[in-house]
Amino acid sequence: MTSSNAAPHLLLGSCDYPEHVPRDRWESYARQQRDLGLSFVRIAEFAWSRIEPRPGEYDWAWLDEAVEAYHAAGLRVVLCTPTATPPAWLVRAHPELLPVDEEGRVREFGSRRHYDFASPVYREHSRRITRALAERYGGHPAVAGWQTDNEFGCHGTARSYGGASAAAFPGWLRGRYGTLDALNEAWGNVFWSMEYTDWDQIRPPNLTVTEANPSHILDFYRFCSDMIAEFQAEQVALLRELSPGRFVTHNFMIFESGFDHYKVAEGLDFATWDNYPTGMLEHFAPTTVSEAEKTRFARTGHPDLVGWNHDVYRGMLGGAGRLGREGAGTTPGFWVMEQQCGQVNWAPFNPLPADGAVALWTAQAWAHGADVVSYFRWRAATMAQEVLHSGLLRHDETPDRGHAEVAGLDLPTFPLGEVPARVALLHDYESLWLMDVQPHSASLSYWGQTVAYYMALRSLGVDVDIVHADADLSGYAVAVAPAITLVTAERAARWRAAVEGGVALVCGPRTGFRTGSGGTWADGQPGPLAEVLSVRLLQFDSLRPGLTQTVRGAGGDFEAHAWAESYRLTGAEATHTYVGGPQDGQPAVTRRGRVTVIGAHSESLIKDVLRDVLAEAGVPTEDLPDGVRLSRRAGVTLVQNWNPEAVTWRGRTLAPVSFEVVAEDGE
Ligand code: GAL
Repeated sequence: MTSSNAAPHLLLGSCDYPEHVPRDRWESYARQQRDLGLSFVRIAEFAWSRIEPRPGEYDWAWLDEAVEAYHAAGLRVVLCTPTATPPAWLVRAHPELLPVDEEGRVREFGSRRHYDFASPVYREHSRRITRALAERYGGHPAVAGWQTDNEFGCHGTARSYGGASAAAFPGWLRGRYGTLDALNEAWGNVFWSMEYTDWDQIRPPNLTVTEANPSHILDFYRFCSDMIAEFQAEQVALLRELSPGRFVTHNFMIFESGFDHYKVAEGLDFATWDNYPTGMLEHFAPTTVSEAEKTRFARTGHPDLVGWNHDVYRGMLGGAGRLGREGAGTTPGFWVMEQQCGQVNWAPFNPLPADGAVALWTAQAWAHGADVVSYFRWRAATMAQEVLHSGLLRHDETPDRGHAEVAGLDLPTFPLGEVPARVALLHDYESLWLMDVQPHSASLSYWGQTVAYYMALRSLGVDVDIVHADADLSGYAVAVAPAITLVTAERAARWRAAVEGGVALVCGPRTGFRTGSGGTWADGQPGPLAEVLSVRLLQFDSLRPGLTQTVRGAGGDFEAHAWAESYRLTGAEATHTYVGGPQDGQPAVTRRGRVTVIGAHSESLIKDVLRDVLAEAGVPTEDLPDGVRLSRRAGVTLVQNWNPEAVTWRGRTLAPVSFEVVAEDGE
């Protein structure tokens, strides 16, 4: 992926909507995009009603001309399957394709994502429209690749609680368990007389009087996730057949938890995601970001919330960025398919980005491994739901502030190459579901706990690969498992092998609390990890706001909030203990050899313990000023200042909202 004769470097693109503007704009927009230095354009993800205005009646003329206009300007096109927006005629002919929400209400036509992934009739139409598009454009020289659908799970659409999904769920369970006895046993249905005697008695776990069985919920979430994977796999198979040599990807979302992204990403060439830093801070910030920080970073977003998403999608298809991987540089990176380039319209507050923010976001994406950053959108929409959202052009087609920042980017200063992370952070959607179904403390969530560890690592200046909890950990110096609450015997064996192979392991609270079916271990926690961690869970304490728990170690006292658990030692030693309260004198942090367990939730404690573990493992750390971050790629370091004011770092002044590319050692 090179432009001109420079070494491979970051490329740019934008999301454009020829169907939203008069015909006479298509050539001029394409030329302007090229003149701005863009290489890619993503189109047509919501254009079904124009591609097929009536059943079986295709109108290709406009799309042919649009594709030609981009092609003539030298842009490469990312074409989308338009299945996020089934048109009115299809919905009215087959209302059974509509999804049902958790309250049992049908989700109606009139916006987008109004379909049930399990619907056989919708699957048929999804294959039909995908085939039609791929037959028409699969071999077009301008088409670089495909995006499936748009943002699976957006607007809470990963799951449908009625209709086709409700009908398919019992069959899926039968495939998983074989017999009802096995299902009743795995779910623990004897509790509250929830045992089933016929598969057809089983419904989705909604509208129950009080909470449904977490094992029932876990399997329903797995089922819904599998439906998304199947839905997409049908499209991918057609695109592979009819559009050889082109990539297939999907644009995933910020902190989306509705499905197992690792499974859904499996058949793709690489992952892409949609990066809206200010909206993310307002809308998705885990409980770990305070109101004061939200205000402080309102115009840039928080570096680590954005960084988390870059790192998770970089690692989606097997951990790109791994040290020591064969064929370094040949595995796919990832893209940012939609990059905020002005204000968004969907958060409770939608401030203007700071001067420099669009350039900073672009540089950060590159430094975390993105090969392409594509801005959303070329021109601000002049109709319908998103008229308050910015584009690179304003409504009146004059360049907006983001446009000037994109024009100022010097792309050859962003070479492609490896992200040299030596620390792996373990992530798992099933643990996320179980933790959030029964959080036990309203102050903590899976994201909250996980992001707290990620922030601690980033504030110590280290690069992090986010990998699946069952990933191969060899080659990493340190593996951090902040919230992997589901641990099977196989997972425990993998971790044990990693530790024996020299990897330092750090586990957070609730690690190994759950079995693979969402129950708990009859021989106590952390089940099959007991030997590796050399502790047994003693007690766990859920702390309301204002109720704290002191933790004491050699480095001083720390204040735990939200969560505090203690351990019985079975080979480990306590490095920190609780002082006062119901767990007085009990171990809060334990250590045995390369394995550390942190039972108390305290940002300063987490950072302190990680700093020591990293030092022992030979990973250099640096206590960075607030809002300053270092990200390394391709032998250089991106120094970023996300603060609204200038900051001093290693004796030099970093301007507000700015970045510099420096040598790898930071000098
Ligand atoms: C994304 C979506 C786009 C647009 C954008 C606005 O989630 O994919 O279609 O709605 O948000 O920020």
